[in-house]
Amino acid sequence: MLYAYGESPFARKRAMKFFVDTAEIAEIRELAATGLLDGVTTNPSLIAKSGRKILEVIAEICEVVQGPVSAEVAATEYKAMMAEAAVLKKIASNVAIKVPLTPDGLKACYALSQEGTAVNVTLCFSAAQALLAAKAGAAFISPFIGRLDDIGHDGMSLIADIVQIYANYPAIKTEVLAASIRHPIHLIEAAKMGADVATIPPNVIKQLYSHPLTDKGLAAFLKDWAATGQSIV
Ligand code: G3P
Repeated sequence: MLYAYGESPFARKRAMKFFVDTAEIAEIRELAATGLLDGVTTNPSLIAKSGRKILEVIAEICEVVQGPVSAEVAATEYKAMMAEAAVLKKIASNVAIKVPLTPDGLKACYALSQEGTAVNVTLCFSAAQALLAAKAGAAFISPFIGRLDDIGHDGMSLIADIVQIYANYPAIKTEVLAASIRHPIHLIEAAKMGADVATIPPNVIKQLYSHPLTDKGLAAFLKDWAATGQSIV
């Protein structure tokens, strides 16, 4: 049987998207220059850590990164969330509004999604919550792996459950954004499960490059090269 491009059940998915989980503009600039960065996520704690005003820092990030930049509301009540979302949305067209997984947050998610705004639903700790977010039209669902591991649960199995559930319903367009990633294994396991996106702290992105055999092999190549006395340019 012939399939149109992208329709084959065997079609390879596009590569996992990498977002960085920080509000530090210097780190974001450095990562953007590598070409690996597809977006940014922030949260109230990361904004607090930056010591900067949210509107300024989100505007600056949006100038550096073309992909979605998640800016989180701080209100907990629907109308107040919508008022904050209106301010955050005006910053740039690539702002994604981040809302917590609460009844009011999902109501705001539905309203914002209906008007075409990308919404990242955060603080997801169960597959049931992820199903609700998809039904509310979320562009992204953010299951927190590390924080589940911290309380003795299995964060990775939540990613597996959500990927499996969403795959059963092709109408669901919500992307699984693996969050609260603490080390490279979290990222690799999430990629094996088919998570669409991972938001990764800058220190973990740096760890992704490292392997002792790469360092050892390079040192040996450089030693042997030096012995030849040659230069390429
Ligand atoms: O930004 C949401 C999430 O990635 C936070 O991670 O390390 O604070 O649990 P963490």
